[in-house]
Amino acid sequence: MAQSAGDVIVVRGNGGLDGEVCIGGAKNSVLKLIAACLLAEGQHVLANVPDISDVSVMCELLEAMGVSITRTDHCLVIDVPAEINTEAPYHLVERMRASIVVLGPLLARFGAARVALPGGDDFGPRPIDMHLRALESLGATFRTSHGDISGTAEALTGAEIVLEYPSVGATENVLMAAVRAKGRTRIVNPAREPEIGDLVSFLNQMGAKARWAGNGLAIEGVEQLSPAGQHASSPRSTAGGIGTSARTEVGGTPADGDGYRVISDRIETATYLAAVGMCGGSVFLRHAVGDHMTMLIRKLTEMGMHIVADAEGIRATATQRLTSADVATLPYPGLATDYKPFLVAMLTTASGVGIVTENIFTGRFRYIDELRRMGADIRTEGHHAVVRGAERLSGAPVRAHDIRAGAALVVAGLAAEGETEVAGATHIDRGYDDLTGKLAGLGAIITRR
Ligand code: EPU
Repeated sequence: MAQSAGDVIVVRGNGGLDGEVCIGGAKNSVLKLIAACLLAEGQHVLANVPDISDVSVMCELLEAMGVSITRTDHCLVIDVPAEINTEAPYHLVERMRASIVVLGPLLARFGAARVALPGGDDFGPRPIDMHLRALESLGATFRTSHGDISGTAEALTGAEIVLEYPSVGATENVLMAAVRAKGRTRIVNPAREPEIGDLVSFLNQMGAKARWAGNGLAIEGVEQLSPAGQHASSPRSTAGGIGTSARTEVGGTPADGDGYRVISDRIETATYLAAVGMCGGSVFLRHAVGDHMTMLIRKLTEMGMHIVADAEGIRATATQRLTSADVATLPYPGLATDYKPFLVAMLTTASGVGIVTENIFTGRFRYIDELRRMGADIRTEGHHAVVRGAERLSGAPVRAHDIRAGAALVVAGLAAEGETEVAGATHIDRGYDDLTGKLAGLGAIITRR
């Protein structure tokens, strides 16, 4: 890992940011694509893979099952054998909740899976009831014992599945199971994040038959799938999610055939947008996909940033103090809950008052106490926060409790007076490929120790 040094990021406010930063592959896509490889025996190749610790954990999980993985320069070669061990142990699931997405592929291909139940986390309880109910609709049965969930399925059969809420993880699990179920499945009210579109494209490249249809996903089960990322001449799938256009930055096989290219990380993109918004300056975010984040771009424009997206990336410019705005998180295409820590950080120094409403993870406000240590004026009430902008934050020692909150504290530190020490930086490593190096490249005074 590029950032495996110490657990503290030290940052000093230093005015505007300038230059160009390269946005990497999306964490929340690549983790699911790695799990999807379990669906087919053979050698899969993934390109544009971010160097982050969550990818290492997902690789360790598959390796514990008997899969061989080679990781070189943002590329993964994943060799899936005919038979594997279908257990996902607690010591790995505990490190990364997203491990639960192996459940669907394991049931679909092997008819059995034993996965440790993920516990709650800093966002509050994180149930998987929707995952299980959806998989049960396809014919799986589950039993919980000793902290593990064991699933079996003689044969999965297509069904109509109505998700009462468009859960990202439940959509992914049931989609990966349905592609090998017998017959037709329709998922009504699926999550529609760009990362789901990437998973659909990836599965279709493996030979699945999944497409967006009306307000759902239509899947025609196939008996067998083949490895993805191998065929230089494969046509790029057009099955991406809402706002997914057929451009080189969007998922698929690049022309040179070096593997399936993971889509760009829109949350990493949001992090650098927030940094520019708070510090001022002008930065080009190469490979960022504007189509995947129209709601955020609209919100940041409303707050006073100038943002232009084209086929190469996004140029973000901020020349004045931002103006406050209200923010409410919603499932895609609404404003993502993952953007919220950055928006809250931006509001702490914007002029005026912004009301922030969290509708996805109601416990996701813990970092606010840390921002208060930096002088932020924030009042919380249930799942609302009222943020009154101050002229300037003041640097302080703070602690990261999760990936996005940690990165938001670093961004806040960039715009604060004096020095900010963000402890718990290994949380940030879970989802950021060289955050310190990339920010330093834009002129930030930032080190790791
Ligand atoms: N929920 C249930 N039951 C379920 C599943 C979800 O009640 O069976 C609830 C959750 O408790 C939550 C809401 O539904 O209140 C949303 O959960 P969802 O399943 O959509 O989220 P997820 O799959 O657990 C992914 C991302 C998160 C991101 C959310 C929302 C990954 C690995 N994680 O989580 O990203 O915040 O979708 O967009 O894809 C991050 O990257 O740091 C991160 C936390």
